[in-house]
Amino acid sequence: MTRKIVLAYSGGLDTSVLLKWLQQKYDADIITVTLDVGQQEDLEKIEEKAKDLGALKHYSIDAKEEFAEKFIFPAIKANALYEDKYPVSTALSRPLIAEKLVEVAKKEKADAVAHGCSGKGNDQVRFEVSVKALAPDIEVIAPVREWNMTRDAEIKFAKENNIPIPVDVDKPYSVDQNLWGRSIECGVLEHPEIEPPEEVYEWTVSPEKAPNTPEYVTIKFEHGVPVSLNGDEMKSVDLIWSLNNIAGKHGVGRIDHIEDRLIGIKSREVYECPAATVIIDAHKDLEKLILTRHELLFKHEVDALWSTLVYNGLWIEPLRKDLDAFIDATQQYVCGKVRIKLYKGGLRVVGRSSPLSLYDLNLATYNIESRFDQSSSKGFIELWGLPTRMANVLRKLGENTYCQK
Ligand code: ARG
Repeated sequence: MTRKIVLAYSGGLDTSVLLKWLQQKYDADIITVTLDVGQQEDLEKIEEKAKDLGALKHYSIDAKEEFAEKFIFPAIKANALYEDKYPVSTALSRPLIAEKLVEVAKKEKADAVAHGCSGKGNDQVRFEVSVKALAPDIEVIAPVREWNMTRDAEIKFAKENNIPIPVDVDKPYSVDQNLWGRSIECGVLEHPEIEPPEEVYEWTVSPEKAPNTPEYVTIKFEHGVPVSLNGDEMKSVDLIWSLNNIAGKHGVGRIDHIEDRLIGIKSREVYECPAATVIIDAHKDLEKLILTRHELLFKHEVDALWSTLVYNGLWIEPLRKDLDAFIDATQQYVCGKVRIKLYKGGLRVVGRSSPLSLYDLNLATYNIESRFDQSSSKGFIELWGLPTRMANVLRKLGENTYCQK
Protein backbone atom coordinates (compact mmCIF):
# COMPACT_ATOMS: atom_id res chain seq x y z
CA MET A 1 0.00 0.00 0.00
CA THR A 2 1.27 3.49 -0.81
CA ARG A 3 2.30 5.51 2.19
CA LYS A 4 0.26 8.59 3.08
CA ILE A 5 1.89 11.73 4.42
CA VAL A 6 0.01 14.82 5.60
CA LEU A 7 1.87 18.03 4.76
CA ALA A 8 1.37 21.46 6.35
CA TYR A 9 1.17 23.46 3.13
CA SER A 10 1.36 27.25 2.89
CA GLY A 11 1.45 27.55 -0.89
CA GLY A 12 4.88 29.19 -0.79
CA LEU A 13 8.00 28.02 -2.57
CA ASP A 14 9.41 25.98 0.33
CA THR A 15 6.36 23.84 0.99
CA SER A 16 5.69 23.49 -2.76
CA VAL A 17 9.18 22.06 -3.24
CA LEU A 18 8.50 19.82 -0.24
CA LEU A 19 5.28 18.56 -1.78
CA LYS A 20 7.12 17.32 -4.87
CA TRP A 21 10.17 16.15 -2.96
CA LEU A 22 8.15 14.01 -0.56
CA GLN A 23 6.32 12.32 -3.43
CA GLN A 24 9.64 11.45 -5.06
CA LYS A 25 11.68 10.53 -2.00
CA TYR A 26 9.07 8.47 -0.17
CA ASP A 27 7.04 7.37 -3.18
CA ALA A 28 4.10 8.50 -1.06
CA ASP A 29 0.66 10.03 -1.50
CA ILE A 30 0.64 13.53 -0.08
CA ILE A 31 -2.37 15.13 1.54
CA THR A 32 -1.94 18.86 1.95
CA VAL A 33 -3.50 20.95 4.71
CA THR A 34 -3.76 24.76 4.76
CA LEU A 35 -5.26 26.58 7.72
CA ASP A 36 -6.70 30.03 7.44
CA VAL A 37 -5.53 31.75 10.62
CA GLY A 38 -5.98 35.18 9.09
CA GLN A 39 -2.86 35.22 6.92
CA GLN A 40 -4.91 36.83 4.15
CA GLU A 41 -3.99 34.53 1.32
CA ASP A 42 -6.21 33.16 -1.39
CA LEU A 43 -7.05 29.68 -0.09
CA GLU A 44 -8.61 28.58 -3.36
CA LYS A 45 -5.44 29.37 -5.25
CA ILE A 46 -3.41 27.47 -2.68
CA GLU A 47 -5.67 24.45 -3.09
CA GLU A 48 -5.38 24.62 -6.87
CA LYS A 49 -1.62 24.81 -6.63
CA ALA A 50 -1.43 21.82 -4.28
CA LYS A 51 -3.50 19.74 -6.63
CA ASP A 52 -1.45 20.84 -9.67
CA LEU A 53 1.65 19.69 -7.84
CA GLY A 54 0.17 16.28 -7.30
CA ALA A 55 -1.46 16.37 -3.89
CA LEU A 56 -3.83 13.43 -3.55
CA LYS A 57 -6.23 15.52 -1.53
CA HIS A 58 -6.26 19.00 -0.04
CA TYR A 59 -7.87 20.31 3.13
CA SER A 60 -8.61 24.04 3.43
CA ILE A 61 -9.60 24.79 6.99
CA ASP A 62 -11.03 28.10 8.11
CA ALA A 63 -9.67 28.26 11.64
CA LYS A 64 -9.83 32.02 12.18
CA GLU A 65 -12.49 32.02 14.85
CA GLU A 66 -11.01 29.06 16.67
CA PHE A 67 -7.61 30.74 16.53
CA ALA A 68 -9.02 33.98 17.92
CA GLU A 69 -11.06 32.47 20.71
CA LYS A 70 -9.02 29.47 21.83
CA PHE A 71 -5.54 30.89 21.33
CA ILE A 72 -5.54 34.69 21.05
CA PHE A 73 -8.07 35.24 23.86
CA PRO A 74 -6.03 33.30 26.45
CA ALA A 75 -2.98 35.26 25.27
CA ILE A 76 -4.80 38.53 25.90
CA LYS A 77 -5.82 37.42 29.39
CA ALA A 78 -2.17 36.53 30.03
CA ASN A 79 -0.87 39.82 28.56
CA ALA A 80 1.39 37.54 26.55
CA LEU A 81 4.56 39.32 25.46
CA TYR A 82 7.64 37.14 25.14
CA GLU A 83 10.62 38.94 26.61
CA ASP A 84 8.29 41.88 27.23
CA LYS A 85 7.98 42.62 23.53
CA TYR A 86 6.68 39.93 21.20
CA PRO A 87 2.94 39.05 21.32
CA VAL A 88 3.78 35.42 20.41
CA SER A 89 1.70 35.61 17.23
CA THR A 90 3.48 32.90 15.25
CA ALA A 91 3.93 30.77 18.37
CA LEU A 92 0.17 30.74 19.01
CA SER A 93 -0.73 29.44 15.56
CA ARG A 94 1.58 26.41 15.60
CA PRO A 95 -0.23 24.19 18.12
CA LEU A 96 -3.51 24.81 16.30
CA ILE A 97 -1.97 23.83 12.96
CA ALA A 98 -0.46 20.75 14.62
CA GLU A 99 -3.86 19.80 16.05
CA LYS A 100 -5.48 19.98 12.61
CA LEU A 101 -2.64 18.04 10.95
CA VAL A 102 -3.17 15.25 13.46
CA GLU A 103 -6.94 15.30 12.91
CA VAL A 104 -6.47 14.95 9.16
CA ALA A 105 -3.77 12.27 9.57
CA LYS A 106 -6.10 10.18 11.73
CA LYS A 107 -9.03 10.63 9.38
CA GLU A 108 -6.96 9.73 6.33
CA LYS A 109 -5.09 6.94 8.10
CA ALA A 110 -1.76 8.57 7.28
CA ASP A 111 1.26 7.49 9.27
CA ALA A 112 3.30 10.67 9.05
CA VAL A 113 2.98 14.44 9.03
CA ALA A 114 5.52 16.75 7.42
CA HIS A 115 6.36 20.41 7.88
CA GLY A 116 8.71 22.86 6.25
CA CYS A 117 10.43 24.29 9.33
CA SER A 118 14.18 24.62 9.46
CA GLY A 119 16.33 23.18 12.22
CA LYS A 120 17.26 26.62 13.56
CA GLY A 121 13.96 28.02 14.69
CA ASN A 122 11.20 27.64 17.24
CA ASP A 123 8.48 26.47 14.88
CA GLN A 124 9.88 22.93 14.48
CA VAL A 125 9.68 22.52 18.26
CA ARG A 126 6.15 23.92 18.46
CA PHE A 127 4.84 21.62 15.73
CA GLU A 128 6.56 18.50 16.88
CA VAL A 129 5.87 18.74 20.60
CA SER A 130 2.17 19.17 19.87
CA VAL A 131 1.96 16.45 17.21
CA LYS A 132 3.83 13.96 19.38
CA ALA A 133 1.73 14.75 22.43
CA LEU A 134 -1.52 14.32 20.50
CA ALA A 135 -0.48 11.30 18.44
CA PRO A 136 2.62 9.49 19.72
CA ASP A 137 2.45 6.96 16.87
CA ILE A 138 2.58 9.44 14.04
CA GLU A 139 5.99 10.04 12.54
CA VAL A 140 7.12 13.62 11.95
CA ILE A 141 9.10 14.35 8.81
CA ALA A 142 11.07 17.60 8.69
CA PRO A 143 12.95 17.51 5.37
CA VAL A 144 14.23 21.09 5.50
CA ARG A 145 16.20 20.12 8.59
CA GLU A 146 18.00 17.40 6.65
CA TRP A 147 18.26 18.31 3.01
CA ASN A 148 20.42 21.47 3.36
CA MET A 149 19.22 22.82 0.01
CA THR A 150 20.46 26.32 -0.77
CA ARG A 151 18.03 28.85 -2.15
CA ASP A 152 19.54 28.35 -5.62
CA ALA A 153 19.22 24.57 -5.39
CA GLU A 154 15.62 24.99 -4.35
CA ILE A 155 14.87 27.23 -7.34
CA LYS A 156 16.61 24.75 -9.64
CA PHE A 157 14.52 21.90 -8.19
CA ALA A 158 11.37 24.01 -8.60
CA LYS A 159 12.15 24.76 -12.25
CA GLU A 160 12.86 21.10 -13.01
CA ASN A 161 9.57 20.07 -11.42
CA ASN A 162 7.35 22.75 -12.94
CA ILE A 163 6.75 24.41 -9.60
CA PRO A 164 5.75 28.04 -10.19
CA ILE A 165 8.37 30.46 -8.92
CA PRO A 166 6.75 33.28 -6.90
CA VAL A 167 7.14 36.77 -8.36
CA ASP A 168 8.79 38.02 -5.19
CA VAL A 169 11.40 35.25 -5.16
CA ASP A 170 14.16 37.87 -5.14
CA LYS A 171 12.89 39.39 -1.91
CA PRO A 172 15.16 38.11 0.81
CA TYR A 173 12.53 38.17 3.57
CA SER A 174 10.79 35.29 5.28
CA VAL A 175 7.33 36.26 6.43
CA ASP A 176 4.76 34.56 8.63
CA GLN A 177 1.43 36.18 9.29
CA ASN A 178 -1.87 35.62 11.02
CA LEU A 179 -4.59 37.60 12.73
CA TRP A 180 -2.36 38.42 15.69
CA GLY A 181 0.65 39.70 13.79
CA ARG A 182 3.20 39.59 11.05
CA SER A 183 6.80 38.45 11.47
CA ILE A 184 9.56 39.44 9.05
CA GLU A 185 12.99 37.82 9.12
CA CYS A 186 16.15 37.40 6.99
CA GLY A 187 17.99 39.70 4.57
CA VAL A 188 19.28 42.94 5.99
CA LEU A 189 17.22 42.35 9.15
CA GLU A 190 19.91 39.91 10.26
CA HIS A 191 22.11 42.93 11.01
CA PRO A 192 20.71 44.20 14.30
CA GLU A 193 22.56 47.50 14.04
CA ILE A 194 20.74 48.49 10.82
CA GLU A 195 17.28 50.05 10.88
CA PRO A 196 14.71 47.87 9.07
CA PRO A 197 14.03 49.26 5.60
CA GLU A 198 10.53 50.61 5.04
CA GLU A 199 9.79 47.86 2.50
CA VAL A 200 9.53 45.16 5.19
CA TYR A 201 6.38 46.73 6.63
CA GLU A 202 2.97 46.02 5.14
CA TRP A 203 0.45 46.42 7.93
CA THR A 204 1.69 49.70 9.37
CA VAL A 205 2.54 53.03 7.80
CA SER A 206 5.71 54.74 8.81
CA PRO A 207 4.98 56.99 11.83
CA GLU A 208 6.30 59.95 9.84
CA LYS A 209 3.56 59.40 7.27
CA ALA A 210 0.79 58.73 9.78
CA PRO A 211 -2.11 61.24 10.03
CA ASN A 212 -1.38 64.51 11.76
CA THR A 213 -4.44 64.24 13.94
CA PRO A 214 -4.74 61.60 16.65
CA GLU A 215 -7.47 58.98 16.67
CA TYR A 216 -9.17 57.65 19.77
CA VAL A 217 -10.46 54.11 20.10
CA THR A 218 -12.47 52.62 22.93
CA ILE A 219 -12.27 48.92 23.65
CA LYS A 220 -14.79 47.25 25.90
CA PHE A 221 -13.62 44.12 27.72
CA GLU A 222 -15.74 41.43 29.30
CA HIS A 223 -14.07 38.81 31.47
CA GLY A 224 -10.67 39.80 30.14
CA VAL A 225 -11.42 39.72 26.42
CA PRO A 226 -12.40 42.48 23.98
CA VAL A 227 -16.06 42.48 22.95
CA SER A 228 -16.62 45.85 21.37
CA LEU A 229 -14.74 48.53 19.52
CA ASN A 230 -15.90 52.14 19.61
CA GLY A 231 -19.29 51.00 20.88
CA ASP A 232 -19.84 48.35 18.18
CA GLU A 233 -20.11 44.81 19.44
CA MET A 234 -18.01 42.68 17.16
CA LYS A 235 -17.03 39.10 16.65
CA SER A 236 -13.48 38.31 17.76
CA VAL A 237 -12.02 38.05 14.25
CA ASP A 238 -13.66 41.26 13.01
CA LEU A 239 -12.66 43.21 16.07
CA ILE A 240 -9.02 42.18 15.77
CA TRP A 241 -8.95 42.92 12.04
CA SER A 242 -10.53 46.34 12.45
CA LEU A 243 -8.00 47.22 15.07
CA ASN A 244 -5.10 45.98 12.94
CA ASN A 245 -6.29 48.41 10.29
CA ILE A 246 -6.94 51.39 12.55
CA ALA A 247 -3.74 51.12 14.57
CA GLY A 248 -1.70 50.21 11.47
CA LYS A 249 -2.86 53.41 9.81
CA HIS A 250 -1.27 55.33 12.69
CA GLY A 251 1.99 53.40 12.49
CA VAL A 252 1.31 51.62 15.78
CA GLY A 253 2.53 48.08 16.38
CA ARG A 254 6.02 47.96 14.90
CA ILE A 255 8.36 45.86 17.01
CA ASP A 256 12.12 45.48 16.58
CA HIS A 257 13.95 43.53 19.26
CA ILE A 258 16.59 40.94 20.08
CA GLU A 259 14.93 37.65 20.87
CA ASP A 260 16.23 34.50 22.56
CA ARG A 261 15.14 31.53 20.51
CA LEU A 262 14.48 28.34 22.40
CA ILE A 263 17.42 26.56 20.81
CA GLY A 264 19.79 29.14 22.25
CA ILE A 265 20.41 31.47 19.34
CA LYS A 266 19.83 35.19 19.69
CA SER A 267 18.07 36.71 16.73
CA ARG A 268 16.87 40.11 15.61
CA GLU A 269 13.13 39.96 15.09
CA VAL A 270 10.85 42.44 13.40
CA TYR A 271 7.08 42.32 13.74
CA GLU A 272 3.97 44.27 12.95
CA CYS A 273 1.31 43.57 15.55
CA PRO A 274 -1.00 46.60 15.64
CA ALA A 275 -4.08 45.02 17.25
CA ALA A 276 -2.07 42.90 19.67
CA THR A 277 -0.04 45.90 20.85
CA VAL A 278 -3.13 48.01 21.49
CA ILE A 279 -5.26 45.29 23.06
CA ILE A 280 -2.58 44.05 25.45
CA ASP A 281 -1.72 47.56 26.58
CA ALA A 282 -5.39 48.34 27.15
CA HIS A 283 -5.99 45.05 28.95
CA LYS A 284 -3.03 45.54 31.28
CA ASP A 285 -4.28 49.00 32.12
CA LEU A 286 -7.77 47.77 32.90
CA GLU A 287 -6.38 45.04 35.15
CA LYS A 288 -4.61 47.72 37.18
CA LEU A 289 -7.95 49.34 37.87
CA ILE A 290 -9.64 46.10 38.91
CA LEU A 291 -7.20 43.63 40.46
CA THR A 292 -5.66 44.06 43.88
CA ARG A 293 -2.00 44.96 44.12
CA HIS A 294 -1.24 41.45 45.40
CA GLU A 295 -3.04 39.84 42.48
CA LEU A 296 -1.20 42.12 40.06
CA LEU A 297 2.20 41.33 41.52
CA PHE A 298 1.67 37.58 41.29
CA LYS A 299 -0.07 37.70 37.92
CA HIS A 300 2.87 39.57 36.43
CA GLU A 301 5.05 36.51 37.13
CA VAL A 302 2.39 34.10 35.90
CA ASP A 303 1.97 36.08 32.67
CA ALA A 304 5.70 35.97 31.96
CA LEU A 305 5.83 32.23 32.58
CA TRP A 306 2.77 31.66 30.38
CA SER A 307 4.38 33.61 27.53
CA THR A 308 7.66 31.73 27.86
CA LEU A 309 5.94 28.33 27.85
CA VAL A 310 3.93 29.19 24.76
CA TYR A 311 6.92 30.70 22.96
CA ASN A 312 8.92 27.60 23.75
CA GLY A 313 6.44 25.25 22.11
CA LEU A 314 4.75 23.99 25.26
CA TRP A 315 1.18 25.06 24.55
CA ILE A 316 0.08 21.55 25.35
CA GLU A 317 2.03 21.37 28.64
CA PRO A 318 -0.33 20.84 31.62
CA LEU A 319 1.28 23.76 33.48
CA ARG A 320 -0.09 26.11 30.83
CA LYS A 321 -3.60 24.98 31.67
CA ASP A 322 -2.87 25.26 35.39
CA LEU A 323 -1.73 28.84 34.88
CA ASP A 324 -4.87 29.47 32.82
CA ALA A 325 -6.97 28.37 35.80
CA PHE A 326 -5.40 31.12 37.91
CA ILE A 327 -5.58 33.66 35.10
CA ASP A 328 -9.25 32.88 34.39
CA ALA A 329 -10.08 33.26 38.07
CA THR A 330 -8.73 36.82 37.94
CA GLN A 331 -10.33 37.62 34.59
CA GLN A 332 -13.90 37.10 35.73
CA TYR A 333 -13.68 40.64 37.15
CA VAL A 334 -11.87 42.25 34.23
CA CYS A 335 -14.80 44.06 32.64
CA GLY A 336 -14.79 47.68 31.54
CA LYS A 337 -13.78 50.21 28.93
CA VAL A 338 -10.41 51.57 27.92
CA ARG A 339 -9.85 54.64 25.77
CA ILE A 340 -6.66 54.78 23.74
CA LYS A 341 -5.07 57.57 21.77
CA LEU A 342 -3.21 56.61 18.61
CA TYR A 343 -0.83 59.13 17.17
CA LYS A 344 2.20 58.92 14.88
CA GLY A 345 3.42 55.48 15.86
CA GLY A 346 2.56 55.87 19.53
CA LEU A 347 -0.28 54.67 21.68
CA ARG A 348 -1.39 55.90 25.05
CA VAL A 349 -4.17 54.78 27.31
CA VAL A 350 -5.96 58.00 28.23
CA GLY A 351 -9.03 56.74 30.07
CA ARG A 352 -10.46 53.66 31.76
CA SER A 353 -13.63 52.76 33.64
CA SER A 354 -15.23 49.67 35.11
CA PRO A 355 -18.20 48.74 37.28
CA LEU A 356 -15.71 46.61 39.24
CA SER A 357 -13.08 49.32 39.61
CA LEU A 358 -11.20 49.40 42.92
CA TYR A 359 -10.42 53.06 42.35
CA ASP A 360 -12.33 55.19 44.84
CA LEU A 361 -12.34 58.89 44.18
CA ASN A 362 -13.36 59.58 47.76
CA LEU A 363 -10.21 57.89 48.99
CA ALA A 364 -7.83 59.10 46.31
CA THR A 365 -8.80 62.74 46.10
CA TYR A 366 -6.60 65.48 47.51
CA ASN A 367 -9.70 67.60 47.95
CA ILE A 368 -10.74 68.39 51.46
CA GLU A 369 -13.97 66.37 51.37
CA SER A 370 -12.10 63.03 51.20
CA ARG A 371 -13.44 60.24 53.42
CA PHE A 372 -9.90 59.04 54.07
CA ASP A 373 -8.83 59.50 57.69
CA GLN A 374 -5.29 60.81 57.35
CA SER A 375 -4.54 60.37 61.02
CA SER A 376 -4.48 56.58 60.57
CA SER A 377 -1.38 56.87 58.38
CA LYS A 378 0.76 57.86 61.35
CA GLY A 379 0.47 54.49 63.08
CA PHE A 380 0.76 52.68 59.78
CA ILE A 381 4.10 54.30 58.97
CA GLU A 382 5.31 53.52 62.49
CA LEU A 383 4.79 49.79 61.96
CA TRP A 384 5.63 49.64 58.27
CA GLY A 385 9.05 51.17 58.84
CA LEU A 386 9.78 49.29 62.07
CA PRO A 387 12.14 46.56 60.78
CA THR A 388 13.96 48.97 58.47
CA ARG A 389 14.41 51.51 61.24
CA MET A 390 15.66 48.91 63.69
CA ALA A 391 18.20 47.48 61.28
CA ASN A 392 19.57 50.90 60.45
CA VAL A 393 19.92 51.94 64.06
CA LEU A 394 21.56 48.67 65.06
CA ARG A 395 24.03 48.60 62.19
CA LYS A 396 25.12 52.16 62.71
CA LEU A 397 25.77 51.51 66.37
CA GLY A 398 28.23 48.77 65.38
CA GLU A 399 30.07 50.86 62.69
CA ASN A 400 32.62 48.44 61.14
CA THR A 401 32.72 46.21 64.17
CA TYR A 402 30.23 43.68 62.92
CA CYS A 403 30.78 40.18 64.26
CA GLN A 404 33.89 41.20 66.17
CA LYS A 405 34.33 40.11 69.73
N1 ARG B 1 10.68 34.49 15.97
C1 ARG B 1 9.27 34.31 15.85
C2 ARG B 1 8.84 33.10 16.63
O1 ARG B 1 9.62 32.25 16.89
C3 ARG B 1 8.81 34.32 14.41
C4 ARG B 1 8.91 33.06 13.65
C5 ARG B 1 8.48 33.20 12.24
N2 ARG B 1 8.36 31.94 11.61
C6 ARG B 1 8.48 31.74 10.31
N3 ARG B 1 8.34 30.53 9.89
N4 ARG B 1 8.75 32.71 9.46
O2 ARG B 1 7.71 32.99 16.98
